[in-house]
Amino acid sequence: MTIIKPKILYFGTPVVLLTTENADGTANLAPMSSAWALGQVVVLGLGAEGQTARNLVERPDVVINVPDPSLWQAVERLAPLTGRDPVPAHKPTHRYEPAKFAAAGLSEEPSLHVRPPRVAECPLQLEARAESTRFGAGGDFLIVEARVLAVHADPGIVVPGTDHVDPAAWSPLIYNFRHYFGLGDQLGHSYRSETA
Ligand SMILES: Cc1cc2nc3c(=O)[nH]c(=O)nc-3n(C[C@H](O)[C@H](O)[C@H](O)COP(=O)(O)O)c2cc1C
Repeated sequence: MTIIKPKILYFGTPVVLLTTENADGTANLAPMSSAWALGQVVVLGLGAEGQTARNLVERPDVVINVPDPSLWQAVERLAPLTGRDPVPAHKPTHRYEPAKFAAAGLSEEPSLHVRPPRVAECPLQLEARAESTRFGAGGDFLIVEARVLAVHADPGIVVPGTDHVDPAAWSPLIYNFRHYFGLGDQLGHSYRSETA
């Protein structure tokens, strides 16, 4: 083994697109990959200076939209954008963009339980509400715990007649040290899997 000092530690986690509500009622849309589930709660890690963090402190509704690998270019179109005006000083490579959906080439679809819209092109969409927000790690990051209220799934990734996502039909988009990947072939399954 070699000791290294990588600038980033993005060791390969699924990308999500968060929709939140701006103060003027419009939607913000931002990619992130620091998201994981604990039961029906999704924990999100957000840069404290971003518009998404600001929105979630003030308005707790959020949709966690999960893109598949075919959407990586739409995700990347959002990468240099922020919904924060003026652009935070430490984001010199970002520009302010209030119309994120149009910039990404993605479509809004109304949610059922929360105010921000869903991303129609994402095969999985989790409507959620932040129950806890706190600034961690020296104040640089906002840690959000969001309870999922409803899960929308494309019928093509659901085992017919069940509530199971079919892991053979679904693939997340993986952010792997700033490069985009899909999943490789299945290796096996957990003893707790309820699908063959
Ligand atoms: C694939 C991808 C993953 C990202 N993951 C995160 C993340 O987990 N947390 C975060 O705060 N920013 C993450 N970013 C950066 C934000 O998208 C970026 O700071 C953006 O400007 C935030 O937009 P906003 O200011 O409108 O909220 C990621 C960007 C990309 C392209």
